[in-house]
Amino acid sequence: MIRTAVDELVKIGWKDEDILNSLEMRMKCGIGKCGRCNIGSKFVCIDGPVFSLAELKKMPNEY
Ligand code: FES
Repeated sequence: MIRTAVDELVKIGWKDEDILNSLEMRMKCGIGKCGRCNIGSKFVCIDGPVFSLAELKKMPNEY
């Protein structure tokens, strides 16, 4: 559903920097200790949990 909403926002002209997504579903400990939330070199609990679509496009496609 999120991907569908993002596709529609892009289609109507929203910029990647203006489309925000929360990845908090990946978090477990929330303090940077368990390693459960990392995507590439980013930790969702430390660097996020909210990322723009522009940031997500630079990350490995693991989310
Ligand atoms: S939630 Fe454990 S390291 Fe991020």
